[in-house]
Amino acid sequence: MTSDKTNRLGLSNLGLGVGLRTKHYAHLMKNEPVVDWFEIISENYMNNFGYARHVLEHIVSIRPVVMHGVSMSIGSTDPLNLEYLKQLKELADLVKPVWISDHLCWTGVAHLNTHDLLPLPLTLESLKHVTERVNRVQDILKRPLILENPSTYMEFQDSTLHEWEFLTELVNKTGCGLLLDVNNVFVSGFNHNFDPEHYIRNIPHKAVVQMHIAGPTDCDTYLLDTHDQPVPTQVWKLYRLAQQLTGGVSTLLEWDANIPEYEELVAEVNKAKQVLLGDFPDVPVYRSPLADGVSNPVDHQMQTVHE
Ligand SMILES: [Fe+2]
Repeated sequence: MTSDKTNRLGLSNLGLGVGLRTKHYAHLMKNEPVVDWFEIISENYMNNFGYARHVLEHIVSIRPVVMHGVSMSIGSTDPLNLEYLKQLKELADLVKPVWISDHLCWTGVAHLNTHDLLPLPLTLESLKHVTERVNRVQDILKRPLILENPSTYMEFQDSTLHEWEFLTELVNKTGCGLLLDVNNVFVSGFNHNFDPEHYIRNIPHKAVVQMHIAGPTDCDTYLLDTHDQPVPTQVWKLYRLAQQLTGGVSTLLEWDANIPEYEELVAEVNKAKQVLLGDFPDVPVYRSPLADGVSNPVDHQMQTVHE
């Protein structure tokens, strides 16, 4: 599904990809990967010289790979972690990723890593702060940084910008790219009562180089970004809209818990081909059997790592 279409950063549409996960290592060492490309969680391979590195080297030799991080903490008030960036760059020297991404979030403060992707107050002040840090990271990595919109469960009263406005300004000021997680837009839209279609129509489409799709969980009063279910119909519809508006960009299925066998994973991402033709699978949002017993989404945000 690769195409010649490129976005503003000159990065090609890689087609349909999946995350490289431990569960599938043995399968992938013996079989063709079938998908067009892979995304790795960078931290899983930094300073890791065991079997995982061996599998990674094999995958890199046969498919394009992009690096997706969860610890840059671009929104934190801590100084940038230069040791982390050095290790990230060392991994990039091995992987030669098509791009490197992380999230618009902070993961901790005072050198504490919460291992969660926490939301920022979206203000002109935080925009200036993040702009300076993105520019610095891009100088260090010597490439554009690709930033993903997070799924969030709370907002700040001090925020003066919508997330799509913040991202638009950030792109204009830094030249960074965007990883549009369509599922995250759907989740945050439900949780904060905004129209996800409006969000997708109002981001800078030419800056989008990749999309994530995933299946969330309905916890009754909020949606949780669990990455453990098939992609629901609503997310597929938003995905098709986003693909039309961007002209077509690389697609990655995220599935990080209750991970299915590899063939099922591939079948799920391949649904994108029918979706792009306007044929949507009829899949409801998975409803948690614990929905009635869960009352505090912020507790979940603090307990769960979302990629
Ligand atoms: Fe994502």
